[in-house]
Amino acid sequence: MEGDNTKKTLLTSMKKCLLVSFFCVLLLSMFNGWSRGILSQTAINPSNPYKHVSYRNVTILLWYWPFNRSLSLKGDVCWDLYRIPFCRLVDQRSLFLSADVVVFHNKELVLGQQKLPFHLPRPQYQRWAWMSLEAPIHSGNLQQFAGVFNMTITYRRDSDVTVPYGELLPKEAGEPVVEGVPLNKTSLVCWVVSNYRSNHTRSKLYNQLKASVPVKVYGRWTKKPLTSTALLSTISHCYFYLSFENSAAKDYITEKLWRNAYRGGAVPVVMGPPLSDYRDVAPPNSFIHVDEFTSVKDLGQYLLQLAEDKKRYAEYFTWKQKWKVKLYTDWRERVCKICSQYNNLPQQKVYSNLQAWVKAKTT
Ligand SMILES: *[C@@H]1O[C@H](CO)[C@@H](O)[C@H](O)[C@H]1NC(C)=O
Ligand SMILES: *[C@@H]1O[C@H](CO)[C@@H](O)[C@H](O)[C@H]1NC(C)=O
Ligand SMILES: *[C@@H]1O[C@H](CO)[C@@H](O)[C@H](O)[C@H]1NC(C)=O
Ligand SMILES: *[C@@H]1O[C@H](CO)[C@@H](O)[C@H](O)[C@H]1NC(C)=O
Ligand SMILES: *[C@@H]1O[C@H](CO)[C@@H](O)[C@H](O)[C@H]1NC(C)=O
Repeated sequence: MEGDNTKKTLLTSMKKCLLVSFFCVLLLSMFNGWSRGILSQTAINPSNPYKHVSYRNVTILLWYWPFNRSLSLKGDVCWDLYRIPFCRLVDQRSLFLSADVVVFHNKELVLGQQKLPFHLPRPQYQRWAWMSLEAPIHSGNLQQFAGVFNMTITYRRDSDVTVPYGELLPKEAGEPVVEGVPLNKTSLVCWVVSNYRSNHTRSKLYNQLKASVPVKVYGRWTKKPLTSTALLSTISHCYFYLSFENSAAKDYITEKLWRNAYRGGAVPVVMGPPLSDYRDVAPPNSFIHVDEFTSVKDLGQYLLQLAEDKKRYAEYFTWKQKWKVKLYTDWRERVCKICSQYNNLPQQKVYSNLQAWVKAKTT
């Protein structure tokens, strides 16, 4: 009996020992395989340190391309083009059920060219995103979309994902310090306009301004259209450029500031959203807002004096020592940005009145 008991105990301990070693070996091989995996994969693609760590990709499905202009999604687009990791951007509708976010561009929806896929079973975790870069006045009637969308992608800073037309990024060490003040100026004030409406606020302002200072006008309206390359070199010969937005909407600051004026090398005279919106996103002394003057005549006087005063005029370019202009033009970059914001999105959100959100007053 005693012998039997000892045998049993011995067997039990052997079993325990075997079990423990089994787990040890399992753990070791797992760890080994895992680290070897990382090492070998990193060796294949050293440019992407995240690529093969097994984080989950966020899958973004673009239901249709804005303005029906499709772009290549080959490879790991968000990483390859914009260094945004863990992002799988697709446009095949068959992947609907695996999508974390489905993106709908407003224009085609309001025009009825595209429909929302209400006929498909919508997974609980899936978010539908409403995307638009238009000012509210051009967004159409959004009443029909009440309670449909979980997130917004617009130029507004209070969107779930903000996609501005441009922004300033701090210059990094080693980048060229200043392009210098463009000095060969031949015109005082320039304006480029393709869509002129005499009842637009900006047109009224232009008409008042040209009564006191010379304003050179380009664009389709004057039958002097400019190619995009000619545009910036033309603007570089102007002291001031009228970055007049066609809408006075919250945060609606377009390439008329970021590209035309800042890149063109003229001091922007801005009109559109309130001064405080500009102050939040652009450095002081880099633009002139029409609201800073009690009359258009005063504005004109100020521009004349500033152009005469080389030193003060040059101060409007000192921001370039610290900042560089980043433009956003590619829809892929805008939708890839969802992935960088993904973990900050609220767990649960529904735009129960999208119309009210979009048409919210500027202040
Ligand atoms: C979109 O473009 C594709 C090909 O580029 C074309 O076949 C299709 O008819 C276009 N759709 C619309 C609504 O314009
Ligand atoms: C994530 O998506 C990218 C782009 O489609 C792909 O190249 C990559 O292998 C995916 N990674 C994982 C872990 O699924
Ligand atoms: C200045 O600009 C005018 C008009 O474009 C051009 O004719 C002239 O050659 C330029 N001068 C210099 C020094 O760049
Ligand atoms: C401006 O004029 C256009 C026609 O040129 C008209 O359709 C529009 O309603 C007018 N807008 C305002 C605000 O008066
Ligand atoms: C998205 O919106 C739908 C429709 O209102 C809602 O049923 C769903 O819970 C929302 N999902 C998230 C993740 O917010």
